[in-house]
Formats: sequence, structure tokens, C-alpha cells
Amino acid sequence: MIILNGSKSTTLGEKIAIALGVKFEDVTTRVFPDGETYVRINTDVKGRDAVIIQTMFPNQNDSLMEFLLIADTLKDMGALKITGVVPYLAYARQDRRFQPGEALSIKTIAGLMKSVGIDRLITIDTHYQHVKPGEFDLFGIPCVNLSAGPLLLEHIKEKVDQDLMTIGPDLGSLEMVKYATGEGMILKKEKRCPICGKPATECKCRIKKKKYEITEIESEYDFSRKNVVILDDIIASGGTMIKAAKEVKSGGAKKVIAAATHGLFMKDSLIQLKELTDYLVVTDSISTPVSNVSVAPLIVKVLKKGFDS
Ligand code: R5P
Repeated sequence: MIILNGSKSTTLGEKIAIALGVKFEDVTTRVFPDGETYVRINTDVKGRDAVIIQTMFPNQNDSLMEFLLIADTLKDMGALKITGVVPYLAYARQDRRFQPGEALSIKTIAGLMKSVGIDRLITIDTHYQHVKPGEFDLFGIPCVNLSAGPLLLEHIKEKVDQDLMTIGPDLGSLEMVKYATGEGMILKKEKRCPICGKPATECKCRIKKKKYEITEIESEYDFSRKNVVILDDIIASGGTMIKAAKEVKSGGAKKVIAAATHGLFMKDSLIQLKELTDYLVVTDSISTPVSNVSVAPLIVKVLKKGFDS
């Protein structure tokens, strides 16, 4: 087996190769002056199983293009089984046609991956399939969705406190919270239309999904004097986590801890969350200043199992 990385996952790729004791190939990538992507594989892959490690943030489209070019080149060079490891799978949130005529983006992504010879995909806490950990079929590609929830909680127990209460900030985090804690405690998030004022689920204004505003996050739990971990799959704009942290704090929590698998931290949400919480942590699925938990052990376990059998 050989591990190859795209430009977005160099450190993670190295960690995985070291843990598996296999050859690591740093693929040459660059961007032409006109913005096109260049890729070159500098080693012989003929007759070998190959694993491409490439997360898809920042610059989702460029990261995807690099990934596709690497896979297709590997196939042309005679690699055997090609596994894609994409810790943050871009476009997974567009997993339905929320409005008529919308692209089902994740289906298109899966089709492209299939066309360049991806045999199997490993991803982490993907939003597709409502973050249920386990194996699933991604439009014809066998896929494993791992969950970083247990690793994040282990880390928080070591760094902050053993005694934790863990909740999800909304329905989207339910499966991840259940998997990590065995319980499904979540807050209620309400999104309303800025035009008609109705909840997003009842609104007929046909505005873009992202334009709905989070108006309230409510809780039925007692946070007083508790160390509360708010666990989610993704911090994107940060709106959900910020509102949840405020709710938990105003509920009297002793410590507020924000934890997520993928830290996109758009705009100033990283700064805001650092100020609001006692501890903030995400994984290295995307490299950020608070990526203090590595997803490498999860990936290594699956690669060992899959290729040994
Ligand atoms: C939603 O269901 C997800 O679990 C996340 O809570 C959400 O996507 C986070 O997005 P943002 O940071 O933009 O509020």
C-alpha cells in the first residue's frame, strides 16, 4: 500500500503513513498562473493499492480537482485499489433538493469520484445521511463514515474535566451525540424566514436555505454548575455554536466547552467562540489553530482492517 496526499492534508497523510508503516508520497501540486491545477505523482504505483488523503477545505473546488486528478493519474499508472480518504467531504450538506431545480451536489461529487476510479471512500462525520457513523453507499461508492465524537470527548476529559454533560446544538448533531455518549441530548434550534417571519419548515418564500436566520436556541436541560460540552459535526459560520454557547452560559454552566469535528470558522467565529467558551477544540480534519485532536487513529484503524482482510 502507498499513501499519497493532496496539498490540503500533508501532515495528516504523513501521520497515517507512519502509523501504518507504509510509503508516503508527497504529490507535487501547484496552480498555473491562470488558476488551473497541476498534479504529478513521482513514484511507481503499478500493482499497488493506493490511498489518497485529501480534505476539502479551504478552497473546496480546487481541493476536489486535485483529488480527481490524482485519482485518475493513479488509475492510468496502474494502481490497483484506490481508496479516497476525505476527512471533510465538501458539498455533503447539499444532500437533498431543498428547493425544486437545485443541484444534488453530493451526488455529482460521488459521480466524479467514481469516474476517476475511486473504489472506496473514508470520511468523518459527514453531514450526508445525517452524520450516522458506519458504512453506507454514496451513490455507488462504498463509504465509511467515522465519528470523531468519542476522541473529542476523551481529549476534553484529559484537558478540562472528567465530569461532563454533553449536548448537541441542534437536530443535525443528534446521531453524533448519540454515538459519543449513548444518549441524545440536543438543543432546539429555530430558523425563521427574514421575509415572512415563519419557521423555515413552513415558509413558502423560496429563499436560499442559508438566508434563514437562527432566531432561537432553546434548552430543556439544567446546566447550572455543570461542565457542558456542546458537540457538533461542523462549525461553519459559527452561528449555531455561538447561539448554543450563549444559551448554555446563561443557563448557569460552570464551564462551556465547544467541540466539533470540522472547524471552518468563517468570518470572526473563531475569535468569538474563543471569547465565549472556556475551551474550544476541533480535529485536524481541517488544520486550524485549535485542531488539537487528530483523526489519524480512526483512519488508520479502517485502513488496517480493510486492506488486511
Ligand atoms: C447542522 O445541522 C449542523 O450540525 C451544524 O450545526 C451546522 O451546519 C453549523 O453551521 P453554522 O456554523 O454555519 O451555524
